[in-house]
Amino acid sequence: MTAHQPLYDSRYGGMAQAVPDISTPVIDQLMTHRSVRAFRADAVSDAQLSAMIAAAQSAASSSNLQVWSVVAVRDQAVRDQLAEFAGNQAHIRQAPLQLVWLADLSRLERVAAAEGRPSDALDYTEMFLTAVIDAALAAQNAVAAAESMGLATVYIGGMRNRPEDVARVLKLPPKTFAVFGMCVGHEDDARPASVKPRLPQSAVLHHESYSTEQDDAVAAYNAAMARFYEAQKMDVKGNWSIHSAKRVAGPASLSGRDRLVDALKALGFSLK
Ligand SMILES: Cc1cc2nc3c(=O)[nH]c(=O)nc-3n(C[C@H](O)[C@H](O)[C@H](O)COP(=O)(O)O)c2cc1C
Repeated sequence: MTAHQPLYDSRYGGMAQAVPDISTPVIDQLMTHRSVRAFRADAVSDAQLSAMIAAAQSAASSSNLQVWSVVAVRDQAVRDQLAEFAGNQAHIRQAPLQLVWLADLSRLERVAAAEGRPSDALDYTEMFLTAVIDAALAAQNAVAAAESMGLATVYIGGMRNRPEDVARVLKLPPKTFAVFGMCVGHEDDARPASVKPRLPQSAVLHHESYSTEQDDAVAAYNAAMARFYEAQKMDVKGNWSIHSAKRVAGPASLSGRDRLVDALKALGFSLK
């Protein structure tokens, strides 16, 4: 048994999983990631925020276009509004800092205009996707940075439930879109979160070409998640497969995001 076996046990819920004879502080820290939904009131300092953003800006960026931005919201009244837009999630009200990560094509539009040059390519889906990818890569670096400082986070996809309302409250210019929010703060030790198991590697890692023969892996994962829910005393109906299938059952499962294309067009993305 290697020293990092416990990290693999918790990440894979005790499923049989090869443990590589490799360990680095970065990998070890990434493997202990947990989304946290219960926060103390203590503030996130300006220095911590600045360090998170430096890490975010250190992520790769397509053609170095850096087509993302982030709005840091500390104001309680604004966080309350954002919580309402995002399906009334209590942790948005509670966490002292909400970071709203933006796909931001507006800056590049202004840069091109200042140079007296056209920016018609911004109207294409490719550029929208580029901005979403840039924002996601930056945000995940910020999560890793936050966790390395002992802070806790949870992404908020609910920020896409009502994109125009979020844009209005944050005064977003056209061609910007809140991809997701992120609660940042200090975990409430009275309600700690646990490492949530992931699918076995055999389900996600394909060698040379794609294989659909993953049924055993999903069955093993359903069993691991059942053990996890029981250990957490969580009353979850059905297993991971059923829970996940429900999330893709139809437009009604999308919490209002079934009209995302319309919202994006209203926000200035032509998506050609
Ligand atoms: C893009 C994205 C959006 C998410 N949106 C929400 C959300 O709106 N509310 C929430 O409580 N968790 C949200 N999560 C957290 C996931 O539920 C969580 O990452 C997942 O259950 C795995 O748990 P873990 O992060 O603790 O490993 C989101 C995660 C991602 C990556």
